Amino acid sequence: HRKYRPFTPIRKTDRRWPDRVIERAPTWCAVDLRDGNQALVKPMNIHQKQRLFDLLVKLGFKQIEIGFPSASQPDFDFCRKLIEEDRVPEDVQIQALTQARPELIARTYEALKGARKAIVHVYNSTSTVQREQVFNLDRAGICDIARKGAEMVRDHARDYPDTDWTFQYSPESFTGTELDFAKEVVDAVTDVWRPDQGQKVILNLPATVEMASPNVFADQIEWICDNINYREHLSISVHTHNDRGCGVAAAELAVMAGADRVEGTLLGNGERTGNMDLVTMAMNLYSQGIDPEVDLSGMAEIIETVEACTEISTHPRHAYAGELVFTAFSGSHQDAIRKCLSRRKDGDVWNVAYLPIDPRDLGRRYEEVVRINSQSGKGGVAHVLERDYDISLPRWLQIEFARVVQKEAEGEGGEIDSFSIHKLFDRDYLQV
Ligand code: KIV
Ligand code: ZN
Repeated sequence: HRKYRPFTPIRKTDRRWPDRVIERAPTWCAVDLRDGNQALVKPMNIHQKQRLFDLLVKLGFKQIEIGFPSASQPDFDFCRKLIEEDRVPEDVQIQALTQARPELIARTYEALKGARKAIVHVYNSTSTVQREQVFNLDRAGICDIARKGAEMVRDHARDYPDTDWTFQYSPESFTGTELDFAKEVVDAVTDVWRPDQGQKVILNLPATVEMASPNVFADQIEWICDNINYREHLSISVHTHNDRGCGVAAAELAVMAGADRVEGTLLGNGERTGNMDLVTMAMNLYSQGIDPEVDLSGMAEIIETVEACTEISTHPRHAYAGELVFTAFSGSHQDAIRKCLSRRKDGDVWNVAYLPIDPRDLGRRYEEVVRINSQSGKGGVAHVLERDYDISLPRWLQIEFARVVQKEAEGEGGEIDSFSIHKLFDRDYLQV
């Protein structure tokens, strides 16, 4: 039984049906412990890293970037701890980031020594601005860094034959890179790795800085998918940031354009405006009847853990996670929600006004949905008395008592909890 219907207002036969929709979840890679961590005022300590890693495993993430061990001793130590204490389940791949430099690649392999399976993620910057202003190199010089990095990654892996290696390459600053040049660099890397001969390879295309609207990013991804060599042997990944506030949209459109995999973080922590939020994208899929293949039903635990590890609080209006996102204060919304909830039978497809999903699917309760302040009306007040005190009011009394509550709320200027509402009812109607 499907609780949610994909695209409920539009039928597949309708000519307004979109050209493309996402039909299954991409492979997820959680980069909280790397991109997320490197953006924190106070980077996570080893206990916080372990706690967040354990949560990601529990939620069902199978690929987890655990840090940048060649650049940071705490990241190196954490990677060793995971491996030496056998903390990585058999079906989980840990991923380590490295720049395409010989000593850093060697150190990355030292960090990953003994891992059952791991992803070595090598990157270098390719955009015009980075080439011209940061590295002072031409296209050939940048391509050379990538090719040599790929060779070193391949050669070092041969020294650790007991690990099942996947190689990942990111042309960092891809969104600022000419597409023909991005193809040239990517082809140079895959010519070294030869995914057609069995090597597992991920090509990760980052919106290191989100520079254009999501459709433009998706067009870039589509062009790369159509033009690079070995496409059918590669996993195409995207890694979007949120500079224009569209990180999730860009990742969604990129999947529609051909990407197989998405990197992001829980609740969107990450460099500057953050990485694309895995929770939002996974729940967007869920609300369309698509199994996100991660379990987000314990949202309170997710929020508590992320907040404890990042020391960043969750905005009350954060999609799916914020304290207020399933709450209605206004009278007309409350009335509509109350009617839909009271008519709903178990097994019905979700069809409740103003609530895109059932809050219970995230471990939240209906009790949070209707809350009372001066904006609320008769429906909301009646709902609270019914829900919490089993008192049902006739319509005339709903109207009359709502005025009493509203007056009180206007005076108080804030929210009135259900206990106070009952107290008012008791004062005006029960004690007479
Ligand atoms: O945003 C970015 O480009 C990155 C890369 C290292 C993948 O984080
Ligand atoms: Zn990033």
